Amino acid sequence: MGFLKILLIFIFCSFPWPSSQSDLDTYIVHVEALKSLLSTQSSLRDLESYYLSFMPKTTTISASGNEETARMIYSYHNVMKGFAARLTASQLKEMEKKPGFVSARRQRILSLHTTHTPSFLGLQQNMGLWKDSNNGKGVIIGVIDTGISPDHPSFSDVGMPPPPAKWKGVCQSNFMKKCNNKLIGARSYVLDDGSPIDSNGHGTHTASTAAGAFVKGANVFGNANGTAVGVAPLAHISVYKVCNPAGECSDPAILAAIDAAIDDGIDILSISLGGDQRRI
Ligand SMILES: *[C@@H]1O[C@H](CO)[C@@H](O)[C@H](O)[C@H]1NC(C)=O
Repeated sequence: MGFLKILLIFIFCSFPWPSSQSDLDTYIVHVEALKSLLSTQSSLRDLESYYLSFMPKTTTISASGNEETARMIYSYHNVMKGFAARLTASQLKEMEKKPGFVSARRQRILSLHTTHTPSFLGLQQNMGLWKDSNNGKGVIIGVIDTGISPDHPSFSDVGMPPPPAKWKGVCQSNFMKKCNNKLIGARSYVLDDGSPIDSNGHGTHTASTAAGAFVKGANVFGNANGTAVGVAPLAHISVYKVCNPAGECSDPAILAAIDAAIDDGIDILSISLGGDQRRI
């Protein structure tokens, strides 16, 4: 067994969701998997055009005067066969009649959570579970959260080896220079915030809790002076931003991030988000 695989904190609650001001809502649509699209020859593009065949052909002009067209915003291929789309209620009704439609539900917004796993496990240097571990060497942790502050000393790659050969993920183009052998991937799935930079703080907190490097002399105005470190200080981090700065995380974006993380080759997902729905 490799290092501790413990960072899966993933709570989805199901409560009815109030309708938003716009005429369009975001839905996660589940469709049947076509046998012809499951063959190894069929490409993601074929899958996408199958998904697009469920979408309405017409442009929507909402009653409120805000012109917005129904559109697909994420398409999924690993976690489920389906997609997320902005639709009106009547467009959804039309979609439900199409062969291959399975189900649809309105998006939910999750909020930020935290964890006490390190103290629960009694992680202290040269003691407990840590003593016999390799500090997470060679492990890739996917952090699905508010993004990351890449210049934080916890994400220094001093002493870090390059990512394992199986790694297929990327740092998106406007972030490439921020990545290193510790922070090996970063992408944003927030529709109106294309940068993986963390302007909330939660994602930086969870990423450094999971895999932050040893940082000596960490203190708050001289208090609690000591060494800060994550659970797996030699693990690599790949960041998937799904929450806006206000800490609102849509489940269609979370699903898109998980779908991508599977393609990328991550070993563990850290998802410290949960119930307590709020509207965007
Ligand atoms: C924190 O502790 C280190 C090592 O004992 C010391 O060198 C440093 O000056 C301390 N920093 C503060 C702000 O107290």
